[in-house]
Amino acid sequence: MIPFFDIKFTKEMEEVALQALYNENFIMGESVFKFEEEFARYIGTKYAVSVSSGNSALHLSLLALGIKNGSKVLTSTNSFIASANCILMVGARPELCDINLEDGNIDLSKCEYGVDAVIPVHIYGNPCDYESVIEYSQRYNIPIIEDACQAHGAIYDDKKAGSLGDVGCFSFYSTKNMTVAGDGGMVTTNNEDVANTIRSLRDNGRKSKVEHDKLGFTMRLNTVSAAIGRVQLKHLDEFNKRRKEILRIYQQKLGKELFLGENPKGKAVYHQIVIKHKNRDKIMKHLSDNKIGTAIHYPIPIHKQPLYSKYGFVLPNAEKFVKEILSLPSYPLLKDEEVALISEKIMEAI
Ligand SMILES: Cc1ncc(COP(=O)(O)O)c(C=O)c1O
Repeated sequence: MIPFFDIKFTKEMEEVALQALYNENFIMGESVFKFEEEFARYIGTKYAVSVSSGNSALHLSLLALGIKNGSKVLTSTNSFIASANCILMVGARPELCDINLEDGNIDLSKCEYGVDAVIPVHIYGNPCDYESVIEYSQRYNIPIIEDACQAHGAIYDDKKAGSLGDVGCFSFYSTKNMTVAGDGGMVTTNNEDVANTIRSLRDNGRKSKVEHDKLGFTMRLNTVSAAIGRVQLKHLDEFNKRRKEILRIYQQKLGKELFLGENPKGKAVYHQIVIKHKNRDKIMKHLSDNKIGTAIHYPIPIHKQPLYSKYGFVLPNAEKFVKEILSLPSYPLLKDEEVALISEKIMEAI
């Protein structure tokens, strides 16, 4: 049995977790501020503000940038639903964009109309075509909220994902390239006002200890989660290196053509390793029959989800793409011989 995903809680994570629980405040302890400082340094932004999830990171970013009822916000239809839900959560109208078939990232040439903000997603940890995002944002003079929830450590043009736009949003959900062993998120930015607004919004709209001047939320990251996040961040580059090594073994066995393309100006971090084949369902079944877990990211594009179908978007590339893609196991704990076995079973099916 090879599961689609696996991760272990380590002694090192346990030690820092206990240390934080015994010695720090449960909420807003020292580890939270250290994690924020270290994450900002790693991404290369002035500020990093921790929050309770990737979803909260996106939601609070839109609020901090003044996106509200009546605004329109563009994102990719090939993403986790949270990339679009944040738009509805602030009362704005979602505009969903089709993708390119090479790597599944947003294709802005298919969305030549104005909006009030754009949320490019670096899907599967592969940076999207960021040049086109900059052009688009300049054309309409709008902010960029990078959804880097799958792209911890990815690089575009020598800069880390999350440092390219007005804000970057990260998730630390368990399957991500790094986790906090629970839900968690981070917003990265060079904009001090945005950082301060998000600090306030995550903490019930607090202005001072006793005053509240905004309608805020309880969306802080727990101290124990931050302590674990610091350990994971320390290992992030080695985790990403292992993911790349896993891809290399798959490609040695199966050839490169089967795999999604990568942005030539970027360095991907392989949050998912995805193949594309017209016999996807047959491959998936054969792997499942051999007790190998796989997944589809995402089987229903956002514009086809019940919550979004009423907008009536017709996005043919995404609809074709989701019928052919398959995510293979890609987690650092996967062994070389398991990658070889998975490859062998794929060969049998195609
Ligand atoms: C692209 C993308 N955006 C947003 C999110 C939301 O993150 P979270 O699950 O931490 O709320 C996720 C993660 O699941 C994601 O993959």
